Amino acid sequence: MDASPFDPLRERLDRRDAAVAVIGLGYVGLPLVLASHAAGYRVIGFDLDPEKIARLEAGQSYIRHIAQSSIAELAASGRFRATTDEAALGEADIVLICVPTPLTVNREPDMRYVEGTAETIARHLRPGQLVVLESTTYPGTTDDLMKPILEAGGLVSGSDFLLAFSPEREDPGNIDYSTTQIPKVVGGDGDAARDLACLFYDSISAAGTVAVTDARTAEAVKLTENIFRSVNIALVNELKLVYDKMGIDIWEVIEAAKTKPFGYMPFYPGPGLGGHCIPIDPFYLTWKAREYEVATRFIELAGEINTAMPAHVVARLAETLDRRQSRGLNGARILMVGMAYKKDVDDIRESPALKLMSLLEERGARVDYHDPYIPVIRTGREHAELSGRESLAWDKALAGGHDAALIVTDHTGIDYGALVAALPLTVDTRNATRSVTRGREKIVLA
Ligand SMILES: NC(=O)c1ccc[n+]([C@@H]2O[C@H](COP(=O)([O-])OP(=O)(O)OC[C@H]3O[C@@H](n4cnc5c(N)ncnc54)[C@H](O)[C@@H]3O)[C@@H](O)[C@H]2O)c1
Repeated sequence: MDASPFDPLRERLDRRDAAVAVIGLGYVGLPLVLASHAAGYRVIGFDLDPEKIARLEAGQSYIRHIAQSSIAELAASGRFRATTDEAALGEADIVLICVPTPLTVNREPDMRYVEGTAETIARHLRPGQLVVLESTTYPGTTDDLMKPILEAGGLVSGSDFLLAFSPEREDPGNIDYSTTQIPKVVGGDGDAARDLACLFYDSISAAGTVAVTDARTAEAVKLTENIFRSVNIALVNELKLVYDKMGIDIWEVIEAAKTKPFGYMPFYPGPGLGGHCIPIDPFYLTWKAREYEVATRFIELAGEINTAMPAHVVARLAETLDRRQSRGLNGARILMVGMAYKKDVDDIRESPALKLMSLLEERGARVDYHDPYIPVIRTGREHAELSGRESLAWDKALAGGHDAALIVTDHTGIDYGALVAALPLTVDTRNATRSVTRGREKIVLA
């Protein structure tokens, strides 16, 4: 067999003495640093945020579900370096990209971070390197956006360096499936890129790899997974509204339906979508589909239904206050329980709790919140008016004289029995009170 310019990288992977750089040390990048490090590689963590770098150098975790001890071990290992110096990327054999892919204010893909990262890598690209994009994005990003930027300096993908896409399928806070227990889907710009990327991911993941034809297919796999979730969540949200009118408990229906051993998979209703993925990713496909003059009606409809959920919750709360306490929302004191977008995480991005707080305050309600994982609200461009609000201590929350509690996130550590006992009314959007037996007449599912 002819020698390949990538044989040295293959050999370094076999010996585990390759250097892996991870760009973007957030919810996705940091677990990937740990997985690469645990496999025996030298790891360089690169981020533009100097605060994250300082915390890593000091051996501290800044993500709740990533243990302090794991980061302390990483920092003390002698095989990890955190840096804001882009020149370090030139030392890496493999470069993994985990930067944000949000939407612009016009709800179009915001490719600034991916583009900026490609330009950074291009300045330090050298023959023999493997570059893998992990950020969720529309089909064509790796080939049509990344590749021209990386090749601008004269090196050619497939012969000088390798380029692949492997979507991150991380589910933060999921104790059953961590990074290395989820198979990696891999598509490359050419077979050599795909095969070397598979070799690398096989070496860090116990769950193995799934090779697909090309990068676009791998990009489409990730979008398909998230669109599937978005559409199914919209479906149960719609069913919730219908069954509610009929006096049927959607939660009981789902519990019974999921006993069918085939052909059904449970999804749960809620106060609206949240997080960095499900509310955003489907619109990456919608945007790209326009270029092909194809309408993505399922995606749009699911978006419409899910976006309407916070307003539904506010209407339900207002109606309940009206019926049970003969009062309106104006001047009512509401305790929101949970600000994070899902249970047991410290992530507030796109959380429906922010929308709910704004809607309630627009109606004149006075809103406090309690969330053990969100001590202070730090928002970005959206809901900036809520930035700086602080979580009420649990004892103060229970004794605060609120007219109603509104459960938005079903964190496991909360004593829902105590909440129901302490407040005159609890409106529950997550069925978090399912095990509460006393005072059930004070609970309304919304
Ligand atoms: N969070 C999730 O649950 C999840 C799951 C699967 C996939 N994803 C996808 O993974 C990607 C990253 O998401 P995340 O949740 O980890 O985001 P994050 O905001 O937690 O982390 C991104 C990091 O990238 C850094 N960064 C931004 N621009 C940079 C640049 N040019 N150079 C270096 N660093 C830069 C930021 O400072 C930040 O630390 C997104 O595409 C997201 O859709 C996220």
